[in-house]
Amino acid sequence: MAVKTKKRLPDVADLTKVQARVELTRLALELGGHDKRYYQDDAPSVSDAEYDELRKRFNAIEARFPEFVSSDSPSQKVGASPSGRFKKVRHAVPMLSLDNAFAEADVLDFVGRIRRFLKLGDDDKIDFSAEPKIDGLSMSLRYEGGELVTAATRGDGAEGEDVTANIRTLKDVPQKLKGRNVPDVCEVRGEVYMTKKGFLALNERQKAAGDTIFVNPRNSAAGSLRQKDSSITASRPLGFFAYAWGEMSAMPEDTQSGMIGWFERCGFSTNPLTKLCHSVEQLIAFHRGIEEQRAELDYDIDGVVYKVNRLDWQERLGFVSRTPRWAIAHKF
Ligand code: IVH
Repeated sequence: MAVKTKKRLPDVADLTKVQARVELTRLALELGGHDKRYYQDDAPSVSDAEYDELRKRFNAIEARFPEFVSSDSPSQKVGASPSGRFKKVRHAVPMLSLDNAFAEADVLDFVGRIRRFLKLGDDDKIDFSAEPKIDGLSMSLRYEGGELVTAATRGDGAEGEDVTANIRTLKDVPQKLKGRNVPDVCEVRGEVYMTKKGFLALNERQKAAGDTIFVNPRNSAAGSLRQKDSSITASRPLGFFAYAWGEMSAMPEDTQSGMIGWFERCGFSTNPLTKLCHSVEQLIAFHRGIEEQRAELDYDIDGVVYKVNRLDWQERLGFVSRTPRWAIAHKF
């Protein structure tokens, strides 16, 4: 069946732009249908080989006509090929998201709410850890007895996918936590990203090989983590910044900035632009400063994050539905 289909179709090299457009649309629909039957219905309607054949042709057409690659293309989807299924992992502590601020007034409101909630006076100082908001994929790394045991994607926040073998290939992720007296259970969380330079070079190589062209570094990082062959992940320019945690059997520090220092002592990379701020004015200045540097950074960011530095205050502030009251993302 697959062979017959192949015979009728013109070579990708001979396709006109119009033919390519039409075929990409048709293949995207067909692949979407197969994905749904495979992932949602657990009832695949084609063999893995036939599916891979369709994808290969789809990718080859996109590689010849990169101007047709869009962010909703099947080539950009996490969870691409049937052979690329990963085991599910339930997060011991859910991975939540952040509320957004777009204007300075939203930041003032955020700080005002915290002040009222904690019943602080106007003169009481609140320190914030101000951090770039990395546009990558959040990851939870579980260490038991200091050894990396599981790396899981965020997924829906409650359950992610087990990408441990692939994460082990990242130089920024220690297999074993450095230092003495490491708590027995440590879940270190942060962002996997692809460097912008590395992304451009990778797409050049992919194009030359007639392979998937990625739309942006984030999609490219996602595709790189979803490899069944870890040596492919190892060849990709991926980095990891640690900035949060999940389950901890003991807390080594009592502030966010202290935790960042602890991640570094354990052997992680943390974002060098992270700064401790002591006032709303400093938060706003941080946002402005980072926005000015944004284009020069070798990784994508889509804003900055402010976090109440004291962890006892974070605990008192808690969460409103699925976002913390003690942090906010100030977008660009
Ligand atoms: S803290 C409870 N810090 O933004 C929330 N998140 O919308 C803990 N992100 O899913 C997240 N940089 O993928 C935090 N410095 C940073 C971040 C960051 C990027 C992402 C993360 C999260 C999303 C929240």
